[in-house]
Amino acid sequence: MISPQLQEILDGKIESPTLPEVIMRLLSAVDNPESTAPDIARIIGTDPALMVKVLKLVNSPFYGMPRQIATLTQATVVMGFSAIRNVALTIAVFDEFSTDSSFPKNFEYTREKLWEHSIAAAMTANVIATRINYSKKEDAFIAGLIHDIGKVVFDRYTHDDFLSALTLADAGGMCLFDAEREIIGETHAFIGSWLVDKWHLPPHLTDALRHHHAPEMSEVDQKLVTIVHLADALVREEGLGFAGDSLVPPIDSLVKSELGLGADSYTDIMQEVKRNFTTAIAFFQSVA
Ligand SMILES: [Fe+2]
Ligand SMILES: [Fe+2]
Repeated sequence: MISPQLQEILDGKIESPTLPEVIMRLLSAVDNPESTAPDIARIIGTDPALMVKVLKLVNSPFYGMPRQIATLTQATVVMGFSAIRNVALTIAVFDEFSTDSSFPKNFEYTREKLWEHSIAAAMTANVIATRINYSKKEDAFIAGLIHDIGKVVFDRYTHDDFLSALTLADAGGMCLFDAEREIIGETHAFIGSWLVDKWHLPPHLTDALRHHHAPEMSEVDQKLVTIVHLADALVREEGLGFAGDSLVPPIDSLVKSELGLGADSYTDIMQEVKRNFTTAIAFFQSVA
């Protein structure tokens, strides 16, 4: 049964997290085929703090641009619309993750650890997407980054129940996903996809969040869902960050059939991620 608090969020009686208006305008401009690079730059430019952060991020070693990018229009041209949208979205989502939340001292789980898990999953999804030549590489990064955002929603709006779910997962050696279902009545995958759907993110991203623990259920882009599923599992196995439970879920057979990746490629993928992980974490912290 769905907990009364969750039901209130779903019914709109409690306001769910919103994206800043500038990001919402940016999302629709990126989706509009008539938009030009100066249009995109103009929208970001209406929020000077965001503008500074975007320029800082695109010029960081993380993006490895061959030369200094001085203006937003130039950044949009060089990186492409969806990449620039994702940079802005990353900044906005980081703000969501970094809002204070308290967990008992003996808990391994913190917002910061979840953020680290999310950055690692984003980087891993990006490496996987590159390897298999997936056409929407940028979207793999963002899907990895926000795949567990439902946990932030639970933490903020049903904090006590979320704590109970974390405790149950830990004590019972079960997946947080199952513990959430037992205590809150729904999973972070469900509430996360519900949230980004409200944010009007494209359906393949909603689908990736909804089904990252069961990629065979995908209804939109099974490849993307499977990429996120694999990224999540590999990051857990490697122990980068912490997502609330210690279990590494079994890797779905779709990884082989849909992505064409065998277990022999996992070490290579994670080596590439680990090479840049510490720099990436430090960088995202400095930008926020
Ligand atoms: Fe998850
Ligand atoms: Fe995860």
